[in-house]
Amino acid sequence: MGYKILEKKSLIPGQTTMLIVEAPHVAAKAKPGNFVILRVHAEGERIPLTIADVKPEIGAIVLVFLVVGKTTAHMNDLKTGDELHDVCGPLGKPTRIEKLPGAVVCVGGGTGIAAMHHIAKGHVAAGNHVIAIIGARNKDLLLFCTELSDFCPEVRIATNDGSQGVQGFVTDVLKDILDSGDRISEVVAVGPVPMMEAVSNMTRPYGVCTTVSLNSIMVDGIGMCGACRCNVGGETHFACVEGPEFDGHLVDFDELRRRLGQFKEQEKISLERYRGGK
Ligand code: FAD
Ligand code: FES
Ligand code: MG
Repeated sequence: MGYKILEKKSLIPGQTTMLIVEAPHVAAKAKPGNFVILRVHAEGERIPLTIADVKPEIGAIVLVFLVVGKTTAHMNDLKTGDELHDVCGPLGKPTRIEKLPGAVVCVGGGTGIAAMHHIAKGHVAAGNHVIAIIGARNKDLLLFCTELSDFCPEVRIATNDGSQGVQGFVTDVLKDILDSGDRISEVVAVGPVPMMEAVSNMTRPYGVCTTVSLNSIMVDGIGMCGACRCNVGGETHFACVEGPEFDGHLVDFDELRRRLGQFKEQEKISLERYRGGK
């Protein structure tokens, strides 16, 4: 028996899609920061996706994905009522959420906004003052604005073209907050590697604890294969079982980038074959 897609919604046509998937065992236990590893079909590869939200009342989880290659293209071709072959989770360590004396700044970019939204929700539920910062190239590419505004008292927006919020990057908004002198207990950043690196570099001189969610290549997701190795503080860690969240000031982002690009050629061929119907 597969995992039924209860709802499919295109958030950015052809680019970003949301699926609500029936997975009661995952929905019952999932916490912010957890992810799943799924296969679209029995011979398909395993891919990790963050649990963007849970709907325990219907035994479902929310996944938001960017269409980048073969497997996400295949997922994007599925319809409401179709099934994913398997969904394994919740995996990874949940986000460390506790009552903090100062504000928690949650920064999200691209599809990372969806994952960040779940983390921000957890911090609000723990009684923390959360400032959410979301960014995209333009206003049409912003995700989860309404969902965030529903529970988060402060949502700040940055767009590269200035079509909504501040013109610039999320780091420009973050700098204003850091310079304001308000007490910040933690910054959490989820999004593209350059964004998480820029956020970590920005907070370092301020000495503000910064957590990033590493999207290293994963296969088994349970610490056996070593595919997700990453360098944090000069030591090798397995992002699937020890993360995916780590101290952004200690992450070797250059190595992460290199490892993420190691199968580019094969991934290109695989997508071309899929698009060509082979
Ligand atoms: P491909 O063409 O195969 O790959 C495109 C790029 O995606 C690769 O160059 C590589 O950098 C990366 N990638 C490929 N295979 C994997 C893999 N097995 N594991 C990790 N990265 C891979 N993406 C989202 O859009 N939404 C999410 O919520 C999300 N959450 C993630 C959570 C975690 C813990 C991790 C590690 C990654 C997450 N990703 C998420 C990234 C997502 O797994 C990749 O985009 C996806 O695997 C690409 O598959 P593809 O076959 O479509 O593309
Ligand atoms: Fe295999 Fe982490 S994905 S060890
Ligand atoms: Mg792939």
